[in-house]
Amino acid sequence: MCGIVGYIGPKQAVPILVSGLKRLEYRGYDSAGVAVLDGASLETRRGAGKITNLEGALAANLLTGKVGIAHTRWATHGPPTERNAHPHRSTDETIAVVHNGIIENADLLRRQLTALGHTFRSDTDTETIAHLIQELYEESLEEAVIAALRKVEGTFGIAVVSSRDPEKIVAARQGSPLLIGVGDGEYFLASDASAILAHTRNVVYLDDGDLCVLTPDGYRVMDIHSTPIRRSVERIEWDLAAIERGGYDHFMLKEIFEQPQTVENAMRGRLILEDGTSKLGGLNMSHDELLNIDNVIITACGTSWHSALIGEMMIEEIARIPTEVEYASEFRYRNPIVTPRTLCIVISQSGETADTLAAMREAKRRGARTLGLVNVVGSTIAREDDGGIYLHAGPEIGVASTKAFTSQVVALALFALKLGRQRTLSVIVGREIAEAMAELPKQIQSILDSAPLIEKIAETYKDSQNFLYLGRGYNFPAALEGALKLKEISYIHAEGYPAAEMKHGPIALIDESMPVVFVAPHDAVFEKIVSNIQEVRARHGKTIVITSQDEPALEGLIDHEIRVPHTIDMLTPILASIPLQLLAYYTALKRGANVDQPRNLAKSVTVE
Ligand code: G6P
Repeated sequence: MCGIVGYIGPKQAVPILVSGLKRLEYRGYDSAGVAVLDGASLETRRGAGKITNLEGALAANLLTGKVGIAHTRWATHGPPTERNAHPHRSTDETIAVVHNGIIENADLLRRQLTALGHTFRSDTDTETIAHLIQELYEESLEEAVIAALRKVEGTFGIAVVSSRDPEKIVAARQGSPLLIGVGDGEYFLASDASAILAHTRNVVYLDDGDLCVLTPDGYRVMDIHSTPIRRSVERIEWDLAAIERGGYDHFMLKEIFEQPQTVENAMRGRLILEDGTSKLGGLNMSHDELLNIDNVIITACGTSWHSALIGEMMIEEIARIPTEVEYASEFRYRNPIVTPRTLCIVISQSGETADTLAAMREAKRRGARTLGLVNVVGSTIAREDDGGIYLHAGPEIGVASTKAFTSQVVALALFALKLGRQRTLSVIVGREIAEAMAELPKQIQSILDSAPLIEKIAETYKDSQNFLYLGRGYNFPAALEGALKLKEISYIHAEGYPAAEMKHGPIALIDESMPVVFVAPHDAVFEKIVSNIQEVRARHGKTIVITSQDEPALEGLIDHEIRVPHTIDMLTPILASIPLQLLAYYTALKRGANVDQPRNLAKSVTVE
């Protein structure tokens, strides 16, 4: 959510900043801007909308200089106009600030600063920081930033430049990620490594409470009392190809098609077929500690919450440990029952979602052990959890999560298998599960081969106003995820329901204009869902059914069928989600929607 880039070194800053912003555009894309220092001259350019608009502004009015900061925005305070785009400047225009996060006491600060004679030119909370730094400026920029941050409440990743101290970028982090890129005689700042990967793989992750000063000669990290802090340089392992489209029209399509590989990566070296179990190196829990778990709470947001629902069923079914799932945003403000024998699993692709992070901290505060299922290496959740399972799905750029979802479910299956084998599961059943998991990459590939069929179905229903997604058991969460995928990128209203619940309300909506997607592979509840399909047919609803290759019972009963290979019940949502993702993708595409950057959404929601 919002992206920050900074550069200081021997090169012109603008091309580096703009290319960095483009890499971050998936984090927020409603306006963008840069501020560049050329000696003591500080200038900004900003544009509403996509980064191409900012490029237009820069082409019309060139900016030179070798020190600069830049920002792409996802609006919180104030509409996404040029006037609200970052960077924001102080009244005397000597300070420019870019900011991710929210300043909670902005209204109070605004009143105080206005009374002191400062002129506000935007509706943003960020602008208060610029005025505050001007107000408190004495000797150096870093001192002024420290003084300002002492008065600020809220979350931030900020970067600041000033014409009064022109060979410098000062940045600080409190709840919103920031890292330093260490190049050869040049230094970068970014909220996300992908922005600077073209220039360096060596990064220093900042922690909450850290401040850093970048100059052409080096960088320093310190705390809010100016005490120096040592932070190690880490190396990014993935390369540029991972964040490029590689011949696909959209990142989302590329990421859907990567799933045979990403599912394989999630299992690599972890699945032990012989013993019917898994080996998970990052758990940081001994055999006895795992046996001592009394209950599991899984907390997450969005798509990750859907994978949590599947994980709940897996853990209860094969490990018999009471498990509950809760939205992170709800969990964090409740008074949940957590004991030292509670394991709290937090699931997050980005590892930065504000509510999920806060929920994890709350669980820790109450004595729970925390386990993070995270994709982004080095992210805040990954660094603060007690142990974790990395997804190894590679960077996910499309805002609608696809490959991270299937990897999350795989990671949950691996963990449930391990817990199960310690408790109630025989080696024979454990082996059946492990063998079924090993088949998944090949099975996913075969589903991807049926993309043209799904594209045709999308063409038929692209003008529908509503969609209903129904599933039972393990595939109820798959139905929720299918509906979420469709609504977030095509803007068609879609709802997911447990199939039998349809009778308690949604059935009133069914007529010949309502497409109903059934997630109905051949599993323990298949016969039950066939009755629900008949109920929809009887009311002239259109049925699109995802079912198993070896299932003859549906002939003549449905309008469209999408066949997926047979697998064990607990793995069916992994296979079923592939056609659901493709159906959403093609529907959005045919409606002319921006698949990778749907309106109003952001890839990583770092505000609550
Ligand atoms: C946003 C994204 C979703 C994602 C959710 C949780 O809403 O658009 O795709 O599922 O955040 O994100 P996380 O990174 O914690 O999995």
